Amino acid sequence: MKARRPIVIANWKLNGGIDLICTSVASFIGKHFETDIVVCPPYLYMRDMLTFLQYSELRIGSQNVSRYESGAYTGETSAQMLKEAGCSLCIIGHSERRAMFAENNLGCQVKVQTALNHGLLPVLCIGETQEERAANTTKAILLTQLSEGLNTVDLAGKDICIAYEPVWAIGTGLAATPDMVQEVHQFIRTELTRLYNEEIADRVRIVYGGSVNKTNATELLKQKDIDGLLVGGASLDPGHFLAICEQV
Ligand code: G3P
Repeated sequence: MKARRPIVIANWKLNGGIDLICTSVASFIGKHFETDIVVCPPYLYMRDMLTFLQYSELRIGSQNVSRYESGAYTGETSAQMLKEAGCSLCIIGHSERRAMFAENNLGCQVKVQTALNHGLLPVLCIGETQEERAANTTKAILLTQLSEGLNTVDLAGKDICIAYEPVWAIGTGLAATPDMVQEVHQFIRTELTRLYNEEIADRVRIVYGGSVNKTNATELLKQKDIDGLLVGGASLDPGHFLAICEQV
């Protein structure tokens, strides 16, 4: 029995369509989980997915959220809109957004606050590159991303999720080992205790992402501080994703 309710999140990135929505939902019909299972499709498909969700325990989430509430911000989608559309969470600061869309820690902090204001579960992504790991700066990098990404956000009585996604493990087939991930998650929880307090740190769910599949999921999930998984590529195969969820 895990200390915190596990959560498995599928990040479809810029993939998928109506067919994948139908086959994904169909795979989960009639299945019961003691786990939160959330699929993050591209924005355009959220409404389509919602139509089918009454038949399964799947929930939907967003891959991003605007830091702005409303106004002249072309191409943005606000937290309020996501909430109204039926989203339960939003991913914030994914390494692909940091690397390709110039997202930074300060912007992440605003987004975390905005998500909380609108009742969305923020999933703040942090993770080191291969070069940073090789230079032995992993913990320093993670601490900066964590402390600046949360900074002034008041977490008292709030739910938040931290996703540890080492950049070198994303889409490479080279997942971090369970021991490596446990060590990092324990470090994150210790730092959350220092930045906030033990009660908050104990409640925060810390999930791992990076080449998760049905073979490595079991050992990862056995670790004390791994409260769930953030799955990319393997979530595009509904049978594979279901097999991961069934291991929690
Ligand atoms: O957000 C999930 C992700 O970045 C991991 O992707 O394909 O390595 O599971 P993947």
